[in-house]
Amino acid sequence: MYAVKRSHRCGELSASAVGKSVQLIGWIRSRRDHGGLFFLDLGDSSGIVQLMVDERMHPELKKLSSVRCESVIEVAGVLQFRPEETANGKLATGAVEVLVESATVISESDAIPFPLDDAFAEKVNEETRLSYRYLDLRRPINQLRLRRRHNIAAATRNFLNENNFLEIELPTLFKTTPEGAREFLVPSRTNRGQFYALAQSPQQYKQMLMVAGIERYYSLARCYRDEDLRTDRQPEFTQIDMEMAFVGREDIHEIIEGLMGRIWKDVLGLELKTPLQRITFHEAMDRYGSDKPDRRFPMELVDVSAIFANSPFGIFASAVAGGGVVKAINGKGLASLSQGDMATLENGAKAMGAKGLAYAKVDGDRWKSPIGKFLDEGTRKQLRDSLGAEDGDLILFSAGPWERACIILGRVRLDCATLLGAGKNGGGPIANEPLDLFWVVDFPLLTFDDEQNRYVSTHHPFTAPMEEDVPLLESNPASVRGQHYDLVLNGVELGGGSIRIHSSDMQRYVFEELLKIQAESVENLFGYMVRAFRFGAPPHGGIAIGLDRLAAMLSGTNSIRDVIAFPKTAKGIDPMVQSPSPASERQLNELFIAIR
Ligand code: AMO
Ligand code: AMP
Repeated sequence: MYAVKRSHRCGELSASAVGKSVQLIGWIRSRRDHGGLFFLDLGDSSGIVQLMVDERMHPELKKLSSVRCESVIEVAGVLQFRPEETANGKLATGAVEVLVESATVISESDAIPFPLDDAFAEKVNEETRLSYRYLDLRRPINQLRLRRRHNIAAATRNFLNENNFLEIELPTLFKTTPEGAREFLVPSRTNRGQFYALAQSPQQYKQMLMVAGIERYYSLARCYRDEDLRTDRQPEFTQIDMEMAFVGREDIHEIIEGLMGRIWKDVLGLELKTPLQRITFHEAMDRYGSDKPDRRFPMELVDVSAIFANSPFGIFASAVAGGGVVKAINGKGLASLSQGDMATLENGAKAMGAKGLAYAKVDGDRWKSPIGKFLDEGTRKQLRDSLGAEDGDLILFSAGPWERACIILGRVRLDCATLLGAGKNGGGPIANEPLDLFWVVDFPLLTFDDEQNRYVSTHHPFTAPMEEDVPLLESNPASVRGQHYDLVLNGVELGGGSIRIHSSDMQRYVFEELLKIQAESVENLFGYMVRAFRFGAPPHGGIAIGLDRLAAMLSGTNSIRDVIAFPKTAKGIDPMVQSPSPASERQLNELFIAIR
């Protein structure tokens, strides 16, 4: 019977073991041949160590010169210092090497489909990498990412356990409910024609736990949403999900700030300054054109409505006359952008619903602008003053209803930052900025949905309105703020939550009167909830933080796929196991399903 003989892990060998016999097992990571003498890097999950093989002393070891990289071998030998000039300061084990005395090939590798060198592997197309994800994950950077994700989860569990939270698993086979993202349906074999839906989040169950008297709940919850995928979205993902009873907004902020502080300290070795800043939804939109602003570079939106209120440029003047705004940003030094880059900015604006993207290239008193003839000397001076614009700058405008104009310019602002080379790895103005973590609060409770011609919840229908706005629910629902908060990190929505409705009557009112869900549907969909709230429901609230997004950002990558062991491609496919896949006729019959 085979028994592993291992005295050390590769990455743990150091000067203190020099002179000792060691037995190692691991993967051959690389080989350098020096004719009669060759060197192998042997690696395991702890790191790598150099092996020296001297064929002249041990002819039987010649076989190691032709065993492929990524094969598993077992070796025995003696640890020695490397000659000083060959020591590798970059490697933890760089001062030592193992003089190999015997070796066994345990598990030989086929030729690997792509080099596991980070610089190469990042260029291999994602589908190929994911087809062989077990090889891709052998790369040290991916090992570090999974370890970091684990460390974040461990810090989270430690902190919440110490703060009297109970970790409770909640069902992921839930039922279909409207008012959220698109769901994955699961047919029931034992209940003909009936379906479960995979939980988009444990929202309703966790609220029931509060009614059940669990005052502090958390779980690392798997969630499923059938959305169009992007770098920050996967069809299944993990939330750090929490709910607390007898709390207000500030209590939840305090716990989360404590949790984030613990993660910053345990995982990054950094001190997080708390309390975190809170900015309102209105301020975030108004200054940055986003409800998850990236504040690491300036380029704020400026309201130039007053400058254009009486402008001969009809589009701007009528936007202001109609109760809207003209907003502008100053793209510092961007007057020299190529036509292609200008088109990129305009396309971005149009994707957000803009009709056009007026601009002005600041240059003495000869500005270049499609609306140049409307920019007289006085207007130009006012624009220079309000935007701090200098020669060589590019002013970009958006006119229309306030929120739309802000959103459009917010997109243009981010695209400008990209063109300036901002971003994690792009150098530019924000490369060295510290992590910017803060709250956005005071969201509108409801958002009007033109397609459905009704209000929908900005967050979800369980979010409570602000106490002081409750009197406005009937007369002016659009002006009512919800007790909702988002946690934002470097321009990414990391988490969101709210203080919930705990009054049965209020919950029913929101469903029926505000969201216009028919009473009968309310009973079918949410009847249990309005009923539960009649049995002494405690005031409660909570939050969910995207663990994948947090792990990605704290690992310095933009894609959550990098921190998920086996992610799906942008098409929702796992190319390794080849899912999704067809079901057999027999399975479909059992489930009473026919494919059209
Ligand atoms: P929400 O829908 O805002 O709130 O989700 C909370 C956080 O989950 C993460 N997230 C995702 N991560 C990866 N892929 C996805 N497809 C995806 N969708 C969401 C984000 C987001 O901020 N039940 C409420 C929370 C509550 O009110 O307590 C909820 O799910 O980081
Ligand atoms: P027009 O007079 O329609 O050719 O528009 C002049 C310039 O204004 C063009 O560069 C358009 O792209 C731009 N533009 C049109 N509508 C808007 C708007 N609502 N906000 C900002 N720029 C606009």
